[in-house]
Order: sequence, then C-alpha cells, then structure tokens
Amino acid sequence: MKEHLLFIVVTLFSSIGLIAQDYAKCRLIPLPQKIEEVNAVFKLADKTEIISESGLAEQAFYLQKELLRYTGISTAIGTSKDLKSYSTRIILKLTPQSKNKGVVNEESYFMKMNADECVIEAETHKGIFYGIVSLIQLARLSEKTGNRVVEIDCLNIFDEPLYAWRGLMLDESRHFFGKEKVKQLLDWMAMYKLNRFHWHLTDTPGWRIEIKGYPKLGYIGGIGNHTCPYTKAEFYTQDEIKEIIRYAKERNIEVIPEIDMPGHAAAANRAYPEFSGGGSERYPDFTFNPGKDSVYTFLTRVLKEVDALFPSQIIHLGGDEVHFGNENWKSDRSIQALMKKENMTDLKEVENYFLKRMADSVIVMNNKIAAWDEVAESDLPTDKTLVFFWRHDKPSQLQKAVDKGFPVVLCPRIPLYFDFIQDASHKQGRTWSGDYSSLDKVYAFNHKSVPVSYPANANILGIQANVWAETIVTPQRLDFMLFPRIAALAEAGWTEEGNKNFDGFNKRLSKHLKLYEEDNIYYYDPFSPQNTCEPVK
Ligand code: ACM
Repeated sequence: MKEHLLFIVVTLFSSIGLIAQDYAKCRLIPLPQKIEEVNAVFKLADKTEIISESGLAEQAFYLQKELLRYTGISTAIGTSKDLKSYSTRIILKLTPQSKNKGVVNEESYFMKMNADECVIEAETHKGIFYGIVSLIQLARLSEKTGNRVVEIDCLNIFDEPLYAWRGLMLDESRHFFGKEKVKQLLDWMAMYKLNRFHWHLTDTPGWRIEIKGYPKLGYIGGIGNHTCPYTKAEFYTQDEIKEIIRYAKERNIEVIPEIDMPGHAAAANRAYPEFSGGGSERYPDFTFNPGKDSVYTFLTRVLKEVDALFPSQIIHLGGDEVHFGNENWKSDRSIQALMKKENMTDLKEVENYFLKRMADSVIVMNNKIAAWDEVAESDLPTDKTLVFFWRHDKPSQLQKAVDKGFPVVLCPRIPLYFDFIQDASHKQGRTWSGDYSSLDKVYAFNHKSVPVSYPANANILGIQANVWAETIVTPQRLDFMLFPRIAALAEAGWTEEGNKNFDGFNKRLSKHLKLYEEDNIYYYDPFSPQNTCEPVK
C-alpha cells in the first residue's frame, strides 16, 4: 500500500518536483503538504454527481449536505451508471487498508482534479473526510458564475497532518455560550481540520453538565457565572451533550470532557457541601476533600456517567492550581488523619494521593487520564496519562513530562491561550508581562518553540489552543478572540514547517474573512485593525 500511495504521489507531482512553489490558486487553510496547480476548471453545479464506493455513503451525504448549505448547489449522489445526465463527477474512493499500518498517516488523502472529475482517495474515512473538507473550502472560496455554478481552479493535492492532535479547548464554566455557538465552533474546527474539542465543563463559577445521580450539580452548581453569581442555572442536559458529540463525530472531532479536580471545585461544593475540602481566603470552597472516602465514591459516580456519555475514552481531570485554595487542608480533620495514616508530610503528597485514586477509577473504566502539567510531577502511568503543557514560563514542566515518557499536548499560554489579547492596542484580555498571543506567534508555533531538549522517544501528540472565558462574556467577544487566530492554529497544527510562510498564509487568510462574514462571525481584522472595535468583556 505504501508503494501504491507513493506511486500516486510521484505520478501526480513528478512534473513539478515534490514541493510546489507557487500557491497562487490555492486558497486552502491549512496549506496542504503538496500541491500541483492544474490548468483546468472544475464546474461544480446542480449537475454534479457524487459517486462513492460502498462504505462511504455517510461521507458522500455529508459532502452533498454541506455543498448545499454553503453554496446553494444541490448535487446528486449517484452510482456512475448514468454518466450522461451529469456534467461533472466527484468520486470518493477508499483504497484498501495498508498492511503496514502506521506507515501512512491515517488522516492523509489525495485529491486529483480535471475539468470532468474530482477524485478524493484515502486509506481511511478520516482521510476521505479531509479531502471533502478541502473541496468544500475550495467551493466556498471560488467564483460563483451563473445560476448555482462554482468554477474551481483544479488542483492535485497530497495532504497529511503534521500533528495527530489539533485541539481547541472552550471554557463554558466562566461563561456559558450554549449549544448553537458550540456547533458553529465545531463547524469551523472541521473546516480548519482541527480534530479534538476539549470541553472545560466544570470550574468555580459554574458546573455545566447534567449528572443524573447528583442533579443538584446542574440546577444548583449551574447557577451563576464569572461575572455574576446569581444568573439562572445553565448547563447541558445529557441529551444535549449527546447531540453535540454526534455533531462533532460527523466532523471527525473527538470531544474530551474536563471535570476539574481536586481544585476549581467550588460550583460542585455549592451543590454538595459535604464533599468540600474548603479553600483559602481568596478562593473559598475551592477543593474537594481528599480525606473523605465518600468524595471518591461521589466523583467516581460522576465520572462513570461522563464515561457513558463521551466515546473518547479520555477524561480530563484538570489537576491544576490546587495550591490556590488548599489552605484549609492544613487544618481539616479528615485530611490530617489521612496524612498521618499515609505518612504524608506535605500537601503536594495529598494532591498526588487524590489524583492517583481518581486515576485508578478512570483506568478501571478503560479510559485514559488527561491532566494539566502539574501531573508531570506525579507517578501516574505514562501509558495511560496525557499531559497538557500550559505554563509557558515553566518549560521545566514539559521537560519533566517528556523525560518521564508522558505523551504531551502543547498548549502554552503564550501563544496558545486565546483569552490573551492578539494586538497591543487591545485592552480587555490577558497579557503576561506585556506579552500576548499575536497571530504571527500562533502561526509560527511548533514543538521546537519551547526551550526543552526532547529525548528521542518524546511523544508529542500535538498542539491545542485554550479559550478561557473570564474575559469573554458574549458570543461576539468569543468570535473576536478566536477569529482569525483559529486559522493560524490550524496551519501550525497541520502544515510542515518547511511549507509554512506567514505572508502566503496572510494572502489566503484575506480571502477567508469573507467566509467569516457569511457566517456572521465578529472577527478581528488583522489587515484593517482600525475597522474592528474590540468588544468589551
Ligand atoms: C490553567 O490555565 N489553569 C490550566
């Protein structure tokens, strides 16, 4: 199979060398790995037929549905028997599974176009999906001529992602954006070939997921947000969670839930104060109580419901910033008794003990544990734990994680926290000693950007941007913080370093602004900053 695919690459690209130099006609973000511009135009119209092999019916339908949605063109799904009545054809072809699994990237695809045909070929459904996404983007960005006809400049493409994990995290505890906004975000993640949606569903301001065994988590824990503690309860019902997971799955996006513990737990503690481990003066009721067996039972039951809802088999346990609010642990009787019993001398050991017990519960559910980079210090099993490197000012945490052999997702505050401002003139978001997450810094980021020395077996899964919502109250501000940085994130996660070029990216991005407008997105315009007002928090 490897030879078969290599044959196609060489045949397609031999005339121009493997790396195309001039992408004048390519408007795709992220930029594919190899492109050949073909001197022909493919007319997408009502008379275009989509022909798919058996096993690709869902993908064919997705393409048909999305073409109608974005271009107004109603193609037909056909069988290739009735060729005469159609003017152009899109052919979806699954090449047989490789015997050398792992040699070819499971998300790779080929696209070959001429005036009559657009053939999308891949080894996997995921690869087919990304070929389809490229075609949809080209259709949206090409010229509409006549009545429901789009003329697409033909390209031959071979494409595969740089990183397997291309993620986006949304914090809906601080402020709740709701199902329709999340679906729009998933649409754009798919359009930009991002494939992991990390959903920060619980934190101090609000608990946002229905748990049937503990209903007060939703209707009491869900009251309030970062701006106001009294707003009516807002949370996702389990039916809504399932709906969003289905929507994401259709777009090759895995949804990873985060249930933050033992810190950032105040919303849960408002609902069930019996599980609180107290807090500090600044962060009252910040923690769950690691000294009570009933807490482990409670949280394990919560996670069992979470496991039954989310097919990803990864549960993010947070584990961050416990020291913000564990002052009370020094005097809590059950925690002190635990420390004595287990011969523990400091609170970090208590934290690790708690995480180890909760990790055991997650492992018994056949899930993997994800956690912020505080767990680089733990001895959780490296084959079952993913570490999220977030403290850009502490590269030693990443060094520890890779040295110990943990798989790592890179999401350092700078440049991958999208609650940080993107332009020096902006006033409402975060900065770090004056530094912030500008478009060019997001674009340039890759694992080599962090000053660590990677061991040969380092397992860097990929990159992720995190949208924390303390300073993001409205959907307009969410748009403004995400667009267009989401496009730079996409190219940083997908495109080989040698193919990246910020000027070329900007040229393509300038064409994408029109798509944001079509979707009614309140984006930041990096080309005319004076034309966009920064929305207040
Ligand atoms: C974090 O920003 N507390 C992970």
